[in-house]
Amino acid sequence: MKHVKTKKITKLIVDAEKKAHKETKGDIEPAFAAPVKWPVDCVVGPGLEGAIACESKIGYVNGSKGELIYQGYNIFDLCAYSTFEEVSYLLLHGNLPTKPQLSSFNEKLIEYRNIPNTIGTLMGFPIRTMSAMAALRAGTNFMRYECTYADSPDYIPDRSKIISADEDSIPMETIPMGEEHAIYEFKKGVKESKDAGLDLHPPEGYPACYHLISGVSSVAGAVARIRQGFLPIAFDPELSHAANLIYMITGKKPTPVEERVMDVALILHADHGMNASTFATMVVASTLSDIYLAMGSGIAALSGPLHGGANEEVLKMLEEIGSVSNVASWYKHARAKKKKIMGFGHRVYRAYDPRARVLGPLAEHLVNEGGDAQAKTMLSIAKALEKEVISTLGAKKGIFPNVDFYSGIVYSCLGIPPDFFTPIFAVSRAAGWTARVMEYLKHNRIFRPRAMYVGSFDRKYKQSAGKDKKLKKK
Ligand code: CMC
Repeated sequence: MKHVKTKKITKLIVDAEKKAHKETKGDIEPAFAAPVKWPVDCVVGPGLEGAIACESKIGYVNGSKGELIYQGYNIFDLCAYSTFEEVSYLLLHGNLPTKPQLSSFNEKLIEYRNIPNTIGTLMGFPIRTMSAMAALRAGTNFMRYECTYADSPDYIPDRSKIISADEDSIPMETIPMGEEHAIYEFKKGVKESKDAGLDLHPPEGYPACYHLISGVSSVAGAVARIRQGFLPIAFDPELSHAANLIYMITGKKPTPVEERVMDVALILHADHGMNASTFATMVVASTLSDIYLAMGSGIAALSGPLHGGANEEVLKMLEEIGSVSNVASWYKHARAKKKKIMGFGHRVYRAYDPRARVLGPLAEHLVNEGGDAQAKTMLSIAKALEKEVISTLGAKKGIFPNVDFYSGIVYSCLGIPPDFFTPIFAVSRAAGWTARVMEYLKHNRIFRPRAMYVGSFDRKYKQSAGKDKKLKKK
């Protein structure tokens, strides 16, 4: 029975892929899909548009073709046939897991979902007055102390290599020559803590990645419950990652369809090239800080409305529009005011975002199968707005719905409160963030771009009268 019901979801994904093939043409982009020869020759626009920061095998976004690939696998195939657990393993380790590999990975995820100290600490914080993303960030950083021996007096990383290559001792302010090799390595030779039990690990490396991927879902669940005025719910070891996430946030065990839809949403959000939050995470990790602190930066970057925060903004926008009959006039007014339409546009895609191609039909399926009147209205407004935007900005500027346009409607149908749309994005992206950090650290070089100085030179310092008086008083 479970299979029959979730089969419909698989069919929707397969149909979305067929539609994508029919509607979008494009080639591999040689400028973004080839080995890098340093120093690299690329055209860079504002906001580092077009800049090449590193090589990666983890994922590829083809903006003209509307294609998304994880470790060589097309996103549609992964959504149709895989699970978030399998995809996380794939992103981190480069290959789909064998059965024994998957079962030991699952065991680790179950173990790491248990973060009682973090939840206890969080409960002493003013979670109800913090934004959900701020609380998620705090919780993720508290997790650093849950299972690692970070900051314990016995934790002595070997920094000898690092010290000889810090920012002050190497000539960073030079014309880039293009280093072929890693300059320094990530805390190689860390001494295990004497006190560290078998279950403690250093705050970097694969155990820390598994801990973050799994534990951040428990943080999200606890924060959601506390913000709703309830006590956090313990995870159920029999449930999948997706089902546990819904359970811990809403307090209700999901139906097979709800679980499957959440799983697909998690797969869709798991990685997406060098986006702002991934880059933020990698920048922090490149300083040889650790993965917990680095991921906190990713969460901070993701929270903004131009990035992951757009999913919550979309729902507010649809509510503001109010009805299908208001769409045309609302849109005309928004365009006249040069307002950004939330859930549309992308730095890389000039075609329909493949993630939105899946989420749109999923939203429609959930609304038709049991959505309330509010959900039905939101979906009709969304579809009418999509038509308006594509017929104007689509052809002219390549602006189409992005991943955030339909995800909010999907999450609402799963009973997720709007302030948890972006935390769910973060729970999923933990896989991509940690995978990209691990990959980059194999050939780490601290990120350190330059700014073009356009200020003045030779200004003469003159003490202000106010400062003078203060000094005299003393
Ligand atoms: N509505 C109206 N016009 C838009 C939009 C939009 N959503 N997005 C881009 N444009 C126009 C923009 O006005 C500009 O026009 P012009 O050339 O005439 O000045 C042009 O397209 C280029 O826009 P941009 O802001 O320079 O593009 P960007 O690459 O810097 O920004 C973006 C990408 C995603 C921040 C932007 O499209 C945007 O603000 N979208 C709305 C917020 C949103 O949905 N964000 C989620 C992004 S997808 C999930 C994720 O990765 O986080």
